[in-house]
Amino acid sequence: MRILLGITGGIAAYKAANLVRALAELGHNVQVLPTKNALEFIGKSTLEALSGNPIYTEMYEDVQEVRHVAYGQEAELVLVAPATANFLAKLANGMADDLLMNAILASSAPVVVCPAMHTEMWLNPATTANVEILEQRGIRVMRPESGRLTGGDSGLGRLPETSDIISFALYGSEVLAGKSVIVTAGGTREPIDEVRFIGNFSSGRMGIELALAFRDAGAQVKLIACNIDRELPAGIEIQRVSSVSELESAMDQPSDLLVMAAAVSDFQLKNPHRGKLPRGEAMSLELTPTKDLLAQYAANQKDSYCVGFALVENGSDVIKVATRKMQEKGVAAVVGNEITALGAVDSSVHFVTADGAQHKSGSKTDIARWLVAELSAILSKS
Ligand SMILES: Cc1cc2nc3c(=O)[nH]c(=O)nc-3n(C[C@H](O)[C@H](O)[C@H](O)COP(=O)(O)O)c2cc1C
Repeated sequence: MRILLGITGGIAAYKAANLVRALAELGHNVQVLPTKNALEFIGKSTLEALSGNPIYTEMYEDVQEVRHVAYGQEAELVLVAPATANFLAKLANGMADDLLMNAILASSAPVVVCPAMHTEMWLNPATTANVEILEQRGIRVMRPESGRLTGGDSGLGRLPETSDIISFALYGSEVLAGKSVIVTAGGTREPIDEVRFIGNFSSGRMGIELALAFRDAGAQVKLIACNIDRELPAGIEIQRVSSVSELESAMDQPSDLLVMAAAVSDFQLKNPHRGKLPRGEAMSLELTPTKDLLAQYAANQKDSYCVGFALVENGSDVIKVATRKMQEKGVAAVVGNEITALGAVDSSVHFVTADGAQHKSGSKTDIARWLVAELSAILSKS
């Protein structure tokens, strides 16, 4: 996602370096826009190095670029952290006296601000009234925390931790409000007899993380959990299933978005044995292919944006295989990863759509949040 990160001139501006780094590591394109006063507290070179983008503060530099309009229009999210009392007052009044204010006024992206200041400044009726105005206009204001302030004193007004700002700005949003999302997770089991099955090593972790990230983005989420024995998150409709046919029945409903993260068996026994097969004798099992539930869903639910997962042999060309699967199954996107990801905490994925491929590696939590941000951006354009 393209994030315009405004930094204003409070003491907490030095903490913005961590924020820039964390957002960049999540794969976002961060354009930092400090006020001139912010550069009294943090060096421009630090921010340029961490974001990988040049930084400008002058309104009348390279005028032909009309930079404030470009910044505003390109941004998919405007985040201002820390936000000074002065900034809140200017924004509440629609003032446009520097590059940051002009870029924000020129933007139609969601705006999130994180005020940080001394307790008295935060509790001042003028600041309170400005915050109220901003919230009435749909701007999301993250409340400051209590703790150590500029001098030796402490109280309400401290900038929250980087991870909390990221959660609030990126995931505690309502970008997917009103959207229904189905996520399948875990691995199916096909009975061999009444005590044994054909299964796989999927832990369900990726699907659970995706369901959480979709929930935090405001979507109405249904998680179809295939044989997951861990505790499942709150705030999500859960349906537990075991076999491919149970999964098929659970998926039989429309959605705005389907993410098929479950590892679905490709084979099933033609005639599962009644009772328990005896030990000791060699035997062969006749397997038949299962239905391709993702392709079937995409064909039946034409309005749904369908995303598949492709587990690819280690060392293969993941993008090529994912692209082929996307075309064969008639889906909008495929997330390709290697077999090593199965059951692991970390992963490395290629997110393939008709527009090309993007890569992300890290914990499945980070990957899920990144994927949800990408999918939110796609859905908000459709
Ligand atoms: C040492 C020091 C620390 C400051 N810390 C804050 C702060 O945390 N919050 C705030 O709203 N203003 C703070 N200020 C005041 C702002 O720098 C001042 O209001 C400035 O005009 C803000 O400019 P800007 O909003 O354009 O960045 C501080 C000033 C100084 C000298």
